[in-house]
Amino acid sequence: MVNYHARNTTSLNGDWRVIVDSTGIGDWRQVWQEKKPQKKTDFVEYSFDGGPILQVPGDFNSQMPELTYLEGIVWYKKPFDYSLTEDKRLFLYFGAVNYMADVYLNGEKIGSHEGGFTPFQFEITDKVKQGTNTIVVRADNRRQKNGIPGYGYDWFNYGGITRDVVLIETNEIFIEDYFIQLEKGSLDTVHGWVQLDGTRGSQNIEIKIPELDLIYKTQTDATGRAEIHFKSSFDLWSPENPKRYKVTINSATDSITDTIGFRCIETQGNQVLLNKKPIFLKGVNIHEENPYKRARAYSEGDASILLESAKELGCNFVRLVHYPHNEYMIEEAEKKGLMVWEEIPVYQHIEFADSSVPQKLDTMLGEMVSRDKNRCGVVLWSLSNETYPSTPDRTDVLIDLTKKCRKLDTTRLITHVMNTQTYEDNTFNVWDPLYEYSDLIALNEYIGWYIPWQGNPSQIKWNITFSEKPVFISEFGGEALYGNHAGPADEANYWTENYQEKIYVDQTQMFENIPGLSGVCPWLLFDYRSLGRMNQVYQKGYNRKGLISENGEKKKAWYIMKHYYQNK
Ligand code: GCU
Repeated sequence: MVNYHARNTTSLNGDWRVIVDSTGIGDWRQVWQEKKPQKKTDFVEYSFDGGPILQVPGDFNSQMPELTYLEGIVWYKKPFDYSLTEDKRLFLYFGAVNYMADVYLNGEKIGSHEGGFTPFQFEITDKVKQGTNTIVVRADNRRQKNGIPGYGYDWFNYGGITRDVVLIETNEIFIEDYFIQLEKGSLDTVHGWVQLDGTRGSQNIEIKIPELDLIYKTQTDATGRAEIHFKSSFDLWSPENPKRYKVTINSATDSITDTIGFRCIETQGNQVLLNKKPIFLKGVNIHEENPYKRARAYSEGDASILLESAKELGCNFVRLVHYPHNEYMIEEAEKKGLMVWEEIPVYQHIEFADSSVPQKLDTMLGEMVSRDKNRCGVVLWSLSNETYPSTPDRTDVLIDLTKKCRKLDTTRLITHVMNTQTYEDNTFNVWDPLYEYSDLIALNEYIGWYIPWQGNPSQIKWNITFSEKPVFISEFGGEALYGNHAGPADEANYWTENYQEKIYVDQTQMFENIPGLSGVCPWLLFDYRSLGRMNQVYQKGYNRKGLISENGEKKKAWYIMKHYYQNK
């Protein structure tokens, strides 16, 4: 159900009682049944009563010291009162649960969801009782061999009910979904659709944009779907002018309002065009972590901190890595005029040959696109990061996924991110079969950190296959501990700011000679938690490639990047 903020919701955020189940025995004890003693001699060896209270939304790791490193199961319980009138329907909606969720209502399982970063919902119209009801959620953030992501990833595995939980009440027949965006290549034509749920026969549909004096009328077909096709002269959305319109969709039995911007994103040769004009993507990578809270970001305030910082750096673009971020990030970026790159966590080693994986990819992609397809700030879907051509089935599965994405959304750019390039004799050789299916040649390179320079950065050469496409450096950089100037500035193993600064000086020099360069994206905005970073003098469980420390301190490299963007 798209745009839940605009619907008739009851928030279930706040206190949830939990049972921490690090051994996983809660399944065998069937804790969701909340058994009570029947006889004097009965006893029950679990209870939510007396247990800890965690806040929802919010990862569980950062809420209790005992849970800091938990990769396991936490059972959450939330009672709620409801009185549902018979002509209404009720849905239980989760913004995200990382990684596996099993959801119970009044002791009965109502469904499961896999994937830690996309929303899901269950209809509970016929299951909710008048009066007090109880939800139990089994949240399990253990890594799965055939998961997406798989076992290995370079970010903190924050578990739990990490985003909003709401009840959504609707009419019998309601506007379940809609897609309202400019068609690709057009500055004035909207081509989309509206989908009713629960429909029986055709309904009149009206789309109103008061600021444009626009009322578009159509009808749904027997399946409840109505195609939309109308023209208007829009004040187009852009970083300089993040214009959005109040758009109301009316059906015979429902009405919903969204705030929608209109813009056109496309490529032409080596260039990315926004509203038919070439634009250089001045990006920065951002993980979904509030650096000051050392926790999963989930709120409007968290989004504001991260995105204001990107604006201060001079960005017009943010790559939200490596998974779909919460909806506040997407909404806030759009308001601030930041173009957004969204990505599903197809990260490095994925078991593409596992028979369950293609379906999981389809579901995760569908959930990401469905949630944010009306957000004009989102200009690009990224379907993988640093996967290996040698992994069985990787290329075929991802080519198929790319084709499916193009069917889901014809209006945005689609890409994969590679680091399959080779670097010899100060020459980059860039090729991967997936580039044929990508709108960008997006690559991560860490010359100056993981790989030493082989010559003068300004004399580097590039052999790029598919050279008629825009080139995008989706990651570059190196590590430094803020305030650390102790040690030789030319030796990596001291994590000095000068060493990181030099990487940025050299990289920005190199950028001047990359043919078809259409954008760059330093890795990354803030130092962030990643337990594989175990140098206990300098990293202490942090990936220190941030331009800013986790305490908000700008490193010397930040100023190099700021200067580069100011002069772009
Ligand atoms: C990779 C990867 C990032 C990772 C980074 C690093 O390119 O995409 O997720 O954190 O390199 O090694 O710091």
